[in-house]
This record gives sequence, C-alpha cells and structure tokens, in this order.
Amino acid sequence: MSLWQKHAIFEKNSIILTVGIVVVVAIGGLVEAVPLFYLKSTIETVEGMRPRSPLELAGFNIYVREGCYNCHSQQIRTLRDEVERYGHYSLAAESMYDHPFQWGSKRTGPDLARVGGKYSDAWHRDHLRNPVSVVPGSVMPPYAFLERTELDFRHIADDMRVLRATGVPYTEEQITRAQADLTIQATQDDPDVDGFLERYPNAVARSFSGRPGRITEADALIAYLQHLGNQVDFKLYDNKANIR
Ligand code: HEC
Repeated sequence: MSLWQKHAIFEKNSIILTVGIVVVVAIGGLVEAVPLFYLKSTIETVEGMRPRSPLELAGFNIYVREGCYNCHSQQIRTLRDEVERYGHYSLAAESMYDHPFQWGSKRTGPDLARVGGKYSDAWHRDHLRNPVSVVPGSVMPPYAFLERTELDFRHIADDMRVLRATGVPYTEEQITRAQADLTIQATQDDPDVDGFLERYPNAVARSFSGRPGRITEADALIAYLQHLGNQVDFKLYDNKANIR
C-alpha cells in the first residue's frame, strides 16, 4: 500500500480525520506555547520606566472611569504610517505597570501613547473643557466637569497597594507618602519637591490646571496625559529595522 492509499483512511472516515486534526493542531499549539513557560519574562526591561506617581495614577483612574479608551488607543504599531504620525512604536515595557492596560481596540480619536508634551497644559484644559474650541469639528465630548470637581485622593495609597499586589514595584515609602507626594506634584508648595523627584524621576511637578491651591480631577488627568510616552529615551532603542 502506498502512502497515498494509507491517507485514504483519513479521507474516508470523518471521525479519524477530526482526531487527526486535533492532534496536529495540539502539537502546533504546544510548540508555540511551551517555550513561553520557560522564559523568565516576555517583557524586556527598559531603562527609564517607573511606576506612575500618585497624581498620574489618579489621572489614569479618571481616564479609565471616563472610558477614554473607547475612542483612544495607547498602542503604536510597527507600521510606517503609525510611526510617522505618532512616534516610536510602543514597547511592551511601556504598559507593564498599567492595570488594566489601555491598548484599546478602536480609534475614533488619535492614539495617545505619546501625547505627553505634544500640547501645553492650557491646550489640554481648553480641549477637555470644550474640544471644538481648539479643534474645530472635533467629535470628542466635553469633560468640563473635571476642572470643577475636586480630586478625591483619600484612597490613592490603597490603589498603590493593590497595584503592588499585581507586581508594580511601589516601595513602602512611596505608599506611605502617597497623599503628600500627590499634593507636592500638583501644587509644588512643599520643600520636599526634590525628595518627590527622587521617588519619581522625570516627573513634572506643577499646577496642571493653572490654579494653584486647588487640586481638581483635570489636574490629575492632564498630569497623566502629559507623561504618556516620554519615559523611555528612544535614542537608546532606535531600531528602524522593526518598522514594516
Ligand atoms: C467619542 C469619542 C471620544 C472620547 C470618549 C474621547 N475622545 Fe479624545 N478625541 C476624540 C477625537 C475624535 C479626537 C480628535 C479631535 C480632537 O483633537 O478633539 C480626540 C482627541 C484627543 C486628544 C488630542 C490628541 C492629539 O494627538 O491631538 C486628547 C489628548 C484626547 N482626545 C484625550 C481624551 C481623554 C483624556 C478622554 C477621556 C476623558 C477622551 N479623549 C475621550 C474622541 C474621543
């Protein structure tokens, strides 16, 4: 019997064919999945990535609460048009401290992975208050209530504790100083700004809403937006070969 005739067993009997398919697919699946269990980490560590400061984290929470991810992605793919429009493609490490991650699946508005530093705080204030005032024709809804709402950060240390349980490396000092650090970043009127910057390198401490003395939800959200995507120094990771 030739090999081709033996194969007729599969072609003539649907149950044997199904079992054969399951076996072949299972082998393929194992070959793909098993090596991942032996890797120490599937995320390359990248210099410059630090957990979010309390104020940035409060902004992240508002971003999630308001569902901004329904219209915005935070994931620049390795496609040339995306890299030319948004900047360096996203690295896995850049979202490793996000729980839940904000990659998104839909872009009604642009990708926000590198929006930090693209606009001034004043632009963000105007844009959140009334998007069409700075981008005529914008379909983004207004979020004017954010700058009228005092930020409630009584539980920010608990949020950090929960994140630590999922693997975000917050130190005990960062957690116990959470509320104080949040106030320092939003108002700057504290002699310990240097200590804050040691705990959160490259964080920007300023009054994001332009109204010192008050800490609103808009401050937190703008602090979060302004730090998106500028933690990694891409001169160290310039790898054009990966761009298709
Ligand atoms: C209904 C969809 C929608 C929702 C929800 C939405 N946006 Fe937008 N967003 C847009 C669109 C469309 C644009 C592009 C026009 C513009 O700039 O206003 C945009 C633009 C932006 C920009 C400017 C990006 C750039 O590179 O120019 C930022 C920042 C932004 N949105 C932040 C947010 C935040 C923060 C939230 C949640 C509080 C949010 N958006 C919710 C649709 C949305």
